[in-house]
Amino acid sequence: MVKAAVLGAAGGIGQPLSLLLKISPLVDELSLYDVVNSPGVAADLSHIATPAETKGFLAADDGLEKALTGCDIVVIPAGIPRKPGMTRQDLFTINAGIVRTLIQGVAKFCPKAYVLIISNPVNSTVPIAVETLKEAGVFDAKKVFGVTTLDVVRASTFTAAVTGEVDPRKITIPVVGGHSGETIVPLLSAATPAVSIPEDKYAALIKRIQFGGDEVVQAKAGAGSATLSMAYAGFRFAEAVLKAHKGEKNIVEPAFVYLPGVPGGQEVQAAIGGQLEYFAVPIELGTEGVAKATNPIPNVTEAEKKLLEVAYTGLADNIKNGIAFAQEKA
Ligand code: NAI
Repeated sequence: MVKAAVLGAAGGIGQPLSLLLKISPLVDELSLYDVVNSPGVAADLSHIATPAETKGFLAADDGLEKALTGCDIVVIPAGIPRKPGMTRQDLFTINAGIVRTLIQGVAKFCPKAYVLIISNPVNSTVPIAVETLKEAGVFDAKKVFGVTTLDVVRASTFTAAVTGEVDPRKITIPVVGGHSGETIVPLLSAATPAVSIPEDKYAALIKRIQFGGDEVVQAKAGAGSATLSMAYAGFRFAEAVLKAHKGEKNIVEPAFVYLPGVPGGQEVQAAIGGQLEYFAVPIELGTEGVAKATNPIPNVTEAEKKLLEVAYTGLADNIKNGIAFAQEKA
């Protein structure tokens, strides 16, 4: 039996993500938590004829405790999204506190659950979650993920548009680093199958993958950021975690993880210069979360090396901010 919770379930991402979880055969029970409207979203979804029993909870009356108790997987898209002109770091002040509070709930009510963090800035909210779980004495690095799947999805879509491949699902590109602008590093040289990008199109393609989120923010003109593509991506990652949990083999998806605590993480840390404790890399998933973090950069090109150098600098700051916030509040 698998019980899943979505925290921030009434939002732009939360609603379609909850819909996908409700129709998934991998979920038996679904808890929807938000500070507004979650009982309504749950009532609506509960009429869908699939087995997952769906309930909604608000903050009042111990809603977070009820939503989280017995959970195996918790997906967190709670918090404010970007408006035009905002960076993901601009969201830090509000979302840092929200993530911390929700993770304190996870630590108390379902400390063994997989935790999938979507709330931005992921480069900082994941360190906040990790510090909060450490503080509570229940941290298992193998089970805490910053969800970067949307970058992977965009990389497939935008690269296919350049190569002329009609089915973007046939192109897999490891995207490493972090989840914001120049910290997002698509390794086109490691695409499977190999792709050939004309030299004059390389820089524009990289920029489009790194800043693809801005296209949506601008098109929505103040009404938020990516929600539907993110719900798809968040579900894809949750599904990967649950399939591996149930014993399916050879499931690999990139995610932003705490390297010192996961198998293979120390090798990755050494390969990226030894400084950063968090990095998105392709993760082989197993029955207990991360089975192995793989080193994706043994054969990178000179152009990719430059992208990685820029990412290291940006990430170091973002991670430091997250840790400082969590430690200051502890
Ligand atoms: P939204 O504003 O539509 O929904 C957020 C929901 O969180 C709202 O329903 C709100 O009531 C709820 N919420 C606020 N405080 C809460 C609390 N303390 N406890 C529980 N729920 C709370 O925003 P949207 O578009 O769904 O985005 C959510 C987050 O996801 C944003 O931080 C956004 O930047 C991030 N995001 C992450 C992506 C990624 O690739 N990791 C991609 C796109 C967005």
